[in-house]
Amino acid sequence: MPHAGTLSIAHLHKQYEVKGRALPVLEDITLTIAPGEFVSIVGASGCGKSTLLRLVVGLEEDYRGEILLDGKRVAGTSLQRGIVFQEHRLFPWLTVEQNIRLALLNLPGSTAEKERSVAEHIALVGLRGFEQAYPHQLSGGMSQRVAIARALVTRPEILLLDEPFGALDAMTRAYLQQELHRIWQAEGITMILVTHDVEEAVFLGDRVVVMEPRPGRIRRVVPVDLAHPRERAGLPFAGVRDAVLREFAGQVPTAQPELAPA
Ligand SMILES: Nc1ncnc2c1ncn2[C@@H]1O[C@H](COP(=O)(O)OP(=O)(O)O)[C@@H](O)[C@H]1O
Ligand SMILES: [Mg+2]
Repeated sequence: MPHAGTLSIAHLHKQYEVKGRALPVLEDITLTIAPGEFVSIVGASGCGKSTLLRLVVGLEEDYRGEILLDGKRVAGTSLQRGIVFQEHRLFPWLTVEQNIRLALLNLPGSTAEKERSVAEHIALVGLRGFEQAYPHQLSGGMSQRVAIARALVTRPEILLLDEPFGALDAMTRAYLQQELHRIWQAEGITMILVTHDVEEAVFLGDRVVVMEPRPGRIRRVVPVDLAHPRERAGLPFAGVRDAVLREFAGQVPTAQPELAPA
């Protein structure tokens, strides 16, 4: 059953106060994401990608501009929007099943329904047989699968992923990218993936949003008109990847302004 949500970000500005000075972090971000779309976001470290996700998920509420989901202003966190971070943030003293079930704790539904939903989501992320395992018994990739299941078990309309595979080795990462694609297709929900890996962005995204830093802005949105399953080794793939990489040319990494001596 597809869940869906149209996310509409318009003229979003965000700044932090650092040592009494205003640090502009995001400037005039405008982006509309269709229900069921997969959007990748790439950009240099510090260009505000995580801040953007925190704003969309509702963890930060101090901003100018508009963030609307299904026409309604995003205010505070909500089960409509799930998030997965680079670190899995699982409770070490709970099993896989318990970690996922915890997300349903305060929600309506019978115990039997919740158990069924937890079991379905364990199957969805390919972890059948590991229900009773503890986080320390899992590999990094398996832990991220649990984090994805936990974020999806509440049936959000949008799943936000902040460099979810950033700490994994290349082979595990490539495998989980395929898995995430399968999960996205199975769930039919909107996904927004922040990554520093251009290949990952192109492999998964319907569009790749390239950001540039100081302050964080959208530099270009590159459409990825390639059928799935995508062949990373092929020329068409390389063409899109190069189009994204070209947007990084001329972006000079410099020290973070807020770390410079006042
Ligand atoms: N809570 C905060 N207070 C002050 N500055 C912050 C805070 N969070 C992030 N920043 C600054 O905002 C900028 C963007 O950060 P972030 O969104 O984490 O970037 P990215 O995820 O693209 O690396 C950086 O310069 C960072 O230092
Ligand atoms: Mg970040």
